[in-house]
Amino acid sequence: MTALYRAAITGLGAYVPEKVLTNADLEKIVETTGEWIRTRTGILERRIAAEGQSTSDLALPAAQEALAGAGLTAQDLDLIIVATASPDMLFPSAACYLQAKLGASCGAFDMAAACSGFTYALSVAEGFVKSGIYKNVLVVGAETISRFIDWKDRGTCILFGDGAGAVIVSRFKDGHGILASYLGADGTQSSILQIPAGGSMIPPSAESVAGGLHSIKMQGPELFKIAVKTMEQAVRKVLEHEKLQVKDIDCLIPHQANSRILQAVADRLAIAPEKVFTNLERYGNMSSASVPVALYEAVKTGTIQKGDLVVLVAFGGGLTWAANLLKW
Ligand code: COA
Repeated sequence: MTALYRAAITGLGAYVPEKVLTNADLEKIVETTGEWIRTRTGILERRIAAEGQSTSDLALPAAQEALAGAGLTAQDLDLIIVATASPDMLFPSAACYLQAKLGASCGAFDMAAACSGFTYALSVAEGFVKSGIYKNVLVVGAETISRFIDWKDRGTCILFGDGAGAVIVSRFKDGHGILASYLGADGTQSSILQIPAGGSMIPPSAESVAGGLHSIKMQGPELFKIAVKTMEQAVRKVLEHEKLQVKDIDCLIPHQANSRILQAVADRLAIAPEKVFTNLERYGNMSSASVPVALYEAVKTGTIQKGDLVVLVAFGGGLTWAANLLKW
């Protein structure tokens, strides 16, 4: 089907909570060392939401900044999509809470694709705008993932942090915008990364709480290998769609999970390391917020310039993986 319109990112916003948790702080909580965390993950510190601060609270300033950047008000929005693995509640969605806080009156829903959530949501927004159904869609990746961490599990608690990134996706006339998106998933690998309890399979109970089943369970080394393979594949898929090659990429914005994963992806793609944007040393893995916050920083620091070819790529629980190819 020939698209009626081009969809483009016309505004960007980001917000991270004030509280910083350093590797030295983690040394006091679990048996680890700052040196182990730094060399095995590249992470130096991460942000933690304040007590009472929910996912939609983090999303709000990011969304407001993105709206201002696009020159829009909340009333101009046709749809709000919040990608999150740590919503305010099971329902209503974080998107509905955000809609109320923004003073918007459009449709709103959450997207569940864990750490790939933002890249998934961006492709959904692209579809709505390209087809002519909507003009302006707010896409947010926001997480208070620290609430779902087992702070006794040194294999996971060192990795994650809280934050939010937002973009406005609007109709655009010239040649810039989202050129292609690719979504992948493998539900047979669901046990590799999950929060087992709290849903219909294992409803909340005294046993589920005592068993620590409401926090992230992860098979780190297995996930590492799959992440490298699927992110490489997703990047190649979006490039193939536009008959482009890796050498055409000006900036790769990968999900900020682990510096060794990013290094391995860069090696497999044979892309110059300076083209791979990283900020995980300051934030850790912010799940669905990682990609939009990294994109925000890459644009604000001038790393991404108008006309650049940008690829966003992520992987996460599901398992899921996805990529978006953008002409900035
Ligand atoms: N501090 C010190 N030692 C730790 C540690 C920590 N925080 N976490 C694990 N270890 C230990 C392990 O217990 C293990 O000890 P053993 O050899 O005595 O059993 C050793 O370090 C090596 O563990 P391993 O799990 O093999 O380490 P790794 O090199 O695979 O690194 C991860 C672990 C989690 C950093 C890595 O596997 C990873 O990043 N995986 C992907 C995770 C991810 O991206 N998740 C989010 C997806 S969206």
